[in-house]
Amino acid sequence: MDTYGYPKSNEWFEKAKRIIPKGIHGHQGIGSYKPLESYPIFSDHAQGAYFWDADGNKFLDFMCAYGPNILGYSDPDVNAAVSEQMKKEDCVTAPSYKMVEFAEVLVDTISSIDWAFMAKNGGDVTSLSLMVAKVATGRKKIMLVNGSYHGVAPWAQTPGAAKGIFEKEQQDLVYVDWDNIEQIEKAIADNPGQIAGFISTPYYQPAFITNRLPGPGYWKKVRELCTKNGIVLILDDVRCGFRLDLAGSDKYYGFDADLICMCKSLANGYNVSTLMGKAALKEACESVYYTGSYWLSAVPFAAGIACINKLKKLDAAKHMLKIGKLYTDGLQKLAASYGYYMEISAEPSLFYIALAQDPVEKKWNWFDPSGDLHKAWVAECVRRGVFITNHHNNFICAAMTEADIEFALSVADDAFRVVKSKF
Ligand SMILES: Cc1ncc(COP(=O)(O)O)c(C=O)c1O
Repeated sequence: MDTYGYPKSNEWFEKAKRIIPKGIHGHQGIGSYKPLESYPIFSDHAQGAYFWDADGNKFLDFMCAYGPNILGYSDPDVNAAVSEQMKKEDCVTAPSYKMVEFAEVLVDTISSIDWAFMAKNGGDVTSLSLMVAKVATGRKKIMLVNGSYHGVAPWAQTPGAAKGIFEKEQQDLVYVDWDNIEQIEKAIADNPGQIAGFISTPYYQPAFITNRLPGPGYWKKVRELCTKNGIVLILDDVRCGFRLDLAGSDKYYGFDADLICMCKSLANGYNVSTLMGKAALKEACESVYYTGSYWLSAVPFAAGIACINKLKKLDAAKHMLKIGKLYTDGLQKLAASYGYYMEISAEPSLFYIALAQDPVEKKWNWFDPSGDLHKAWVAECVRRGVFITNHHNNFICAAMTEADIEFALSVADDAFRVVKSKF
């Protein structure tokens, strides 16, 4: 098969770099896609599990817009709800009652919460969750996991980023390692009566490194420690939300969070996020003044209602876990048949891959040249129409079928054949 080229994408990118800082924000902008020549840069249209780039190349999309594409691009049921709402109203002085309907759907769907506050981005609600925890407890410190991503607010930046300029915003943060109860106990003991909240993703999912699931009993113990010490347990479910369990990722791992942040999967790409919480924290949320120009727009609420109802009808979390496992099991078998080792981490519906010569060699750091086999194999898949990333977890959407996985595995096979001659 001829592999893809990207002349039009590159033309757009050259223009973009002149008039938009970095050309594109986020992962593209920081040069995460390596080698960049192997990747499409701009898209033209998308449908279901696929997108077409500016050059007309078609991709099976395992990035799902970094998560929001959960049902499939341009889902007809979500689009119908959106068109109907657009005919009526969107951003209006008095918000639409659709917001209340959406909150009802959320409260009925997510098992551990009693209320929902709507915003736009994941970072809006992770920041709000810290404020709510602080107001509720009258404490100033927040405990969080080293290397976790919670958005781009000054408190959430990597410590030391931007020449340490955000030091002040980060001075009340207490960092612990993932799945390390001893460190959590020590942090609580070292900061007696001072920690307002513990914010964490359901499992460890940073970019660039192997993801890690919670060990046995981890979340139960964390829940106990938070309850005993009056610490608000905040689940950042912005990325995992609805891909493990529609009732919440805390339910999936057998615990109850006090506050839950969600965004990406709520409305199949329409822009809405939510902070949800237990009844006891509603007053604290009410006492924080927090809003934005578009936060009460009705169209994303209508999209969210249609999206969640359809996810339930399809039992989508189960389907996505199954489809992800089919792909990752297939990848591991294929890698082994070429004498390579494919490390799979994270949950199957948000799988993280790392290819190496063998399990010992898999100690490579993404930034080292020893990761070149991995980057080259991913690039060969992309050039053949399967969009996966080499540095970030991937995502399954509900529109993906077993036939799509068959196609992705046949591309993986071709890509292995190509890299085997070089590595
Ligand atoms: C776990 C997690 N928390 C928070 C965020 C921030 O969300 P947003 O980019 O919508 O502000 C992200 C975004 O990727 C995320 O993955």
